[in-house]
Amino acid sequence: RSLLASHLHGDELLVVSNREPWTHERIGDALLVRQPASGLVTALEPVLQACSGTWIAHGSGNADRECVDAADHLMLPPGQQDYRLRRLWLSEEEVRGYYDGLSNEGIWALCHLAHVRPVFREADWQHYRQVNQRFADAVIAEARSHNPVVLVQDYQLALVPALIRQRLPEATILCFWHIPWPTPEAFGICPWRNEILQGLLGSTILGFQTRHHQQNFLATVERFLEARLETERSSVFHAGRETLVDSYPISIAWPATAPDSARQRQLGRETLGITAGQKLILGVDRFDYTKGIEEKFIAFERLLEKHPEWIGRLCLLQLAAPTRSSLADYAALSERVARRAMQINNRFGRPGYTPVTLLVEHRDQAAVRALYGAADVCVVSSLHDGMNLVCKEFAATRDDEQGVLVLSSFAGAARELGEALSINPYHTESFADTLQQALCMHPAEQRERMSSLRRQIHDANVYLWAGRMLEDAARWRLQARMHERL
Ligand code: G6P
Repeated sequence: RSLLASHLHGDELLVVSNREPWTHERIGDALLVRQPASGLVTALEPVLQACSGTWIAHGSGNADRECVDAADHLMLPPGQQDYRLRRLWLSEEEVRGYYDGLSNEGIWALCHLAHVRPVFREADWQHYRQVNQRFADAVIAEARSHNPVVLVQDYQLALVPALIRQRLPEATILCFWHIPWPTPEAFGICPWRNEILQGLLGSTILGFQTRHHQQNFLATVERFLEARLETERSSVFHAGRETLVDSYPISIAWPATAPDSARQRQLGRETLGITAGQKLILGVDRFDYTKGIEEKFIAFERLLEKHPEWIGRLCLLQLAAPTRSSLADYAALSERVARRAMQINNRFGRPGYTPVTLLVEHRDQAAVRALYGAADVCVVSSLHDGMNLVCKEFAATRDDEQGVLVLSSFAGAARELGEALSINPYHTESFADTLQQALCMHPAEQRERMSSLRRQIHDANVYLWAGRMLEDAARWRLQARMHERL
């Protein structure tokens, strides 16, 4: 963490994302400060704390406007601010078209293999273009120098790199795509595929979570654009400039906060109503169809069928943070999942025993950590996921080196976390068997696996992620300068 700022070599840092790191919500007389459930925010916030700079994002909390100054910067008492937060206001219509429509019904569905058909509406695309222009304008307005380092985040802002490049040609633009990138065939159905590719290629460096997604992107460029690929440098020459394209697996801050004591863990279990002879399986996800929550419930039901000895002794607690709730696919999912939980409880529950608890709510970081500490098994069953940081947070929390991680092989994190028990969430039978294996794992094996997971996350933490991108950018700029001089 302490080295990260030095990778900037004194240059100014700007971050731009759709989601903001903090929202302000007014509930009655109380003003609540909340960190949204978003892997992007979990990863980026510690980076900004370490480097300072300005973060530009959509102001989405109902009291956000109460907490900014005339320039839309968040006002915090002196000493409480590691970086500046500049809020950008979007109209309801813009949110519907740019965020709900093109970003989430279009690109999100396009890039995740979860069998949800992407929707492409011309009007949404027009809003997407307009809002991307507004974010780029905000970056230009915030920049104090002609060559800042700008970190552009994710699929909501694919056009922003090229838009910034037009106005600040000397900026170092690092764009990170947090979600998967599909094959050229899959991406090719997007009516605006070329515009999106060209927008991204305004970047100096374009980062993906895994080598596989990076390769898919390069193949997509090759298929649809007049561009030259330099395989050795892993770069693309397009419209007279070069963009480095590489993989940078994202992570979380390390160390996680202060370790929990055994007593705190025990208290956590008691608060959840877990008795001495019972075990707890935990799920923590945004309530998104890509997360495989329904598949998790189905596998849990199968486990109780196959191993009735668990009835009365095993609970599944699923925390599902509401997200994008105005969209039909999300509303349908939440109905299906609630119905499934009820069915399982009707079938296997009895007085004093509720097998499945579904909590559809937002919990703050400390409360989520308490859940991680209380769990015997944490299950991440994504149908497709760029990285997934819940699995890394669970392991980072478990300094007692106990607890078992069950992880979908379709999450980017599976490539790094080989000591997790791997599942295919589509295959109920083997998923249920893996849950059984996790529940029966000897503490010594738990320790061995958990300490190795923790070592991996410690070594490849989010400071390394940001540091690698910043260092690659610094090297790139140096080479570019030398080239000019020759
Ligand atoms: C994923 C995306 C992020 C997004 C997060 C939460 O992690 O990659 O860009 O912020 O989901 O989704 P939301 O739509 O609530 O921002």
